[in-house]
Amino acid sequence: MRFIPFGKEKTPVSTIILGLMRIGPGKTTTQALSVPEVEELLDTALESGINMLDNADIYANGACEERLGEVFADRPDLREKFFLQTKCGIHKEPGITYFDFSKEHILESVDGSLRRMQTDHLDALLLHRPDALMEPEEIAEAFDILHQSGKVQNFGLSNCNPMMIERLKRVLPVPVAADQIQLSAAFTPALDAGFNFNTQTDAGILRDGSILEYCDMNQIVVQAWSSLQYGFFGGVFLGSDKYPELNRVIDRLAEEKGVTNTAIALAWILRIPIPMQAIIGTTKPSRIRDAAAAADITLSRKEWYEIYLAAGNILP
Ligand SMILES: NC(=O)c1ccc[n+]([C@@H]2O[C@H](COP(=O)([O-])OP(=O)(O)OC[C@H]3O[C@@H](n4cnc5c(N)ncnc54)[C@H](OP(=O)(O)O)[C@@H]3O)[C@@H](O)[C@H]2O)c1
Repeated sequence: MRFIPFGKEKTPVSTIILGLMRIGPGKTTTQALSVPEVEELLDTALESGINMLDNADIYANGACEERLGEVFADRPDLREKFFLQTKCGIHKEPGITYFDFSKEHILESVDGSLRRMQTDHLDALLLHRPDALMEPEEIAEAFDILHQSGKVQNFGLSNCNPMMIERLKRVLPVPVAADQIQLSAAFTPALDAGFNFNTQTDAGILRDGSILEYCDMNQIVVQAWSSLQYGFFGGVFLGSDKYPELNRVIDRLAEEKGVTNTAIALAWILRIPIPMQAIIGTTKPSRIRDAAAAADITLSRKEWYEIYLAAGNILP
């Protein structure tokens, strides 16, 4: 496993994060994992070198945090061994979902997350999806209260562009440690515009605001979510007949290197030379082991570009 420094204490965190969005019942997983199943998942993560968890208040309407809390109550050693990150800022009510970065919502959400996860602090809190009505000073006040009280050690954002981060950074009392964005070998808007700068092709349209370059220049860790998916929760591209060429290249490299296709797909993300983490969302211990192997692989330039091209991209 490889580790990178995270946040103000430069805590070493694994380049693979275990995401817990699918452990609860809901759209993405019909049946919740039991407490022993989640314990097995977490034990396997630790054995594989993974020391960071990602959760959110809205996953399965709080059930993913609650299940993790039951696990921590049963096995307090697991809480101590993981760097625990969760997210808030999406407000879900019957009939409407909207974004809320108000001070009240952030403070209430954190209290709810701490209660559900049966812990007294979060190692990191991310704001989940940008709220157009956000007022930076209010967010700063909320972060200050949470930080001073010891409830939250580090702060970050998710799905935010560089200007949003810059606007917040001007007033926040703590550094922005991370931005979580969608990125996989089959979902690359964050790379495409850079390759197609100053062209007249659609791929040249800047959709991400140069987030990768911005984060690297500002020591902000990029966390790639849905690292094995295409589209917006479109499905897993590994083994999918929608991506025959991509799978052909990935399978060949997997065989050459003696690892699984999962490891190659994640190694592709981690090869981007900036502070980078890939979040995996599997509910299967065996896939955690497969994923962890990615951290020990460094794809060559040629191999990396082969995968980019095999996903259907064109270079100028
Ligand atoms: N910030 C945001 O807006 C945002 C949005 C979405 C997600 N996230 C975070 O990112 C994490 C990961 O997202 P994700 O769950 O979409 O990631 P993912 O790892 O791309 O997808 C996980 C899903 O793919 C399946 N899978 C994995 N490997 C497979 C393979 N080789 N063949 C077939 N199926 C395979 C898993 O099934 P099995 O369980 O059967 O292995 C699981 O259903 C989440 O848990 C969450 O923490 C953040």
